[in-house]
Amino acid sequence: MKKIIILFSLLIISCQQTNDIDSKVSKLLSQMTIQEKIGQMNQYNGFTNFTGPAPEGGDEKNKYDNIKNGLVGSMLNVRGVDEVRAVQRLAVEESRLGIPIIFGFDAIHGYKTTFPIPLAESASWNLDLIEKSARLTAKESAAAGINWTFAPMVDITRDARWGRVMEGAGEDPYLGSLIAAARVKGFQGSDLSSEETIAATAKHFAAYGFSESGKDYNTVDIGINTLYNTVLPPFKASLEAGVKTFMNSFNDLNGIPVTADKFLQREILKGDWDFDGFIVSDWGSIREMIDHGYAKDRKNAGELALNGGSDMDMESYIYLEYLEELINEGKVKMSQIDDAVSRILKVKYELGLFEDPYKYLDKEREASVIGSKEILDATYEVAQNSIVLLKNENNILPLKKSGLSIALIGPLADDKNSPLGNWRIAADNNSAISVKEGMENYDGNKITHSIGVRLINKVPDGFHEEVSINETDKSGISDAKRIARNADVVVMVLGEYGFQSGEARSRAKLDLPGLQQELLEEVYSVNKNIVLVLMNGRPLVLNWHEENLPAIVEAWHLGTSSGSAIASVLYGDFNPSGKLPMSFPRSVGQLPLYYNYKSTGRPGIDGVDPGSVFWSHYIDELNSPLYPFGFGLSYSEFIISDVKLSSNELKSGESIQATIEITNTSKIKGREVVQLYIQDKYASTTRPVKELKGFELVDLNPGETKAINFTIDEKMLEFYNASNQWIAEPGEFNLYIGNSSSTKNAVSFNFID
Ligand code: NOJ
Repeated sequence: MKKIIILFSLLIISCQQTNDIDSKVSKLLSQMTIQEKIGQMNQYNGFTNFTGPAPEGGDEKNKYDNIKNGLVGSMLNVRGVDEVRAVQRLAVEESRLGIPIIFGFDAIHGYKTTFPIPLAESASWNLDLIEKSARLTAKESAAAGINWTFAPMVDITRDARWGRVMEGAGEDPYLGSLIAAARVKGFQGSDLSSEETIAATAKHFAAYGFSESGKDYNTVDIGINTLYNTVLPPFKASLEAGVKTFMNSFNDLNGIPVTADKFLQREILKGDWDFDGFIVSDWGSIREMIDHGYAKDRKNAGELALNGGSDMDMESYIYLEYLEELINEGKVKMSQIDDAVSRILKVKYELGLFEDPYKYLDKEREASVIGSKEILDATYEVAQNSIVLLKNENNILPLKKSGLSIALIGPLADDKNSPLGNWRIAADNNSAISVKEGMENYDGNKITHSIGVRLINKVPDGFHEEVSINETDKSGISDAKRIARNADVVVMVLGEYGFQSGEARSRAKLDLPGLQQELLEEVYSVNKNIVLVLMNGRPLVLNWHEENLPAIVEAWHLGTSSGSAIASVLYGDFNPSGKLPMSFPRSVGQLPLYYNYKSTGRPGIDGVDPGSVFWSHYIDELNSPLYPFGFGLSYSEFIISDVKLSSNELKSGESIQATIEITNTSKIKGREVVQLYIQDKYASTTRPVKELKGFELVDLNPGETKAINFTIDEKMLEFYNASNQWIAEPGEFNLYIGNSSSTKNAVSFNFID
């Protein structure tokens, strides 16, 4: 009873706060001129050194004056307490109404201290850790004056050619939804007005992850079935977790650039879903509608974007230039502007910026929080949990801690920059712990090191610089072979350099870039005892490696603590438990590739059978991935029993139990991710062959057995059906429980309405 009274009181307080904010917003709105309103919808990129003298002329001066005139609602990429304070002061103390600016930034996986890239973190399947990583990212960013991050990216991604797969949670809408919610909760916390939390952004709304042929910014053409069942769920989950903003995207969807898509933004998001935060465009995406061949000119682009539901213009400068004219011409409505501005002001009130526009700006906090031990320690823990063991023949891993001679080879073995991955704007170059440094912390073995071949010809300055891959200089290969020849074990660290995945980094080939494969095979010719440690931002094609190498460790781009985390796994101080959040293909030709595909009318078998051609397959490749979604090994061995169902009839409104027993048959304590998949065997639309519907992280001591129980209810069977309803249809279902999406451990049940 006491609990209910407390909950009820909290609810009343939160309703009062909302009403309070709403009335403050309308009062402020009534004092604003049209230009001031439009100003709130304008977001600029940072430009100058704000703590220095005011810029003298040109674009920079314009921006500067516009801030003072109340014509800038938000800025991105202004960071650091002094800089943010200088800009905020202009807005708050020099503009007529003193409306504070909201400062946005791409804190995607950390701020200065970097966590693993989001795809890697997703491999942990550990929602608490993922939430913690976002919480600490928020804390560190907030200490630098940031109050809004453009994360999480919740795009479902099925095509490893697309470089931005590194920013998301992979291919599955269920896992993706849980991770989206965890990240939103982490960034925003339970009190958005705290100076340790920041507003989050669910992006890119929507379907950007389906860019045709994996090419960034490309067109997207998908049907309503895929949109509702696959693309939208993580956005909905973000909304339910309370996300304050959405970002639309560069792509068009079924012929409409989403920046102007009324159906997505006005009907679904602000209509059916009742979203009351605001939508920011992507960088210049309003202007880009001209290049899409959709808007006639800049003015028309502004009209289309506002009518389509975009509330804030990131770096197109179009709203500021044309919205007033468009109102006067009756092409956009004043009510739409008022609505957009109210949404933006509301978030600023919720952040507490009106109460104290300088609340994020505390030099002492900046100095003590950024790079703090609390955050650094967490990057280590998250990095360890993100590692996926792909192969470990004859228990070559873990390595003995003494008495071995180890040859450490490869361009990424002592790289302190690449492990930071892409989207690490505030991190210092070369600030990650390299694998070499991590391994040298264990001093019982003799380690010799050789780079073998360079991967890139020059270290990039940052996000915008393209660099060339070394395709010619093989001079270091002989040295690598020399040290490998006499070693007990060779650890090779290969993969993609830090900026090789991410925005605009689509690849048509998914092999090891440059001369790395040649280096690997040369080393293999003198010593086959190779542990391959991979650093990459996306699934790669690893057939040769799976066939020939005894051990493969997927170590992604793991952030600041990368090398220590990898060393702890190689030496067995941490038993790996990560599971792939994306399928790894056998060939690029299989893409897009995902475990929850549709069966087709010609499902056939998974094999290249020359005698039987008329089924849905390739004549030169298997259908199955090399490593499936949900796959990952451990140093422990687990056995999962057959599934037991409490009943094979599930009635509407009731639930049944699915149970397995899992035993750790090894001598090593370990963690297994037990996964539950369900297949709807027939329905009013075709359904995937199986879909993840639950999972549990289970820790087991040597010899220990645990019973794991999943509750199956109607909710788990729901989907967007042929009558446009989100509903569970009666029928037959298969249920699988195992340790990857390729499990065959199945039972059946009926759902009765
Ligand atoms: C473009 C990217 O698509 C988006 O994700 C990012 O947040 C903005 N640039 C701002 O940097």
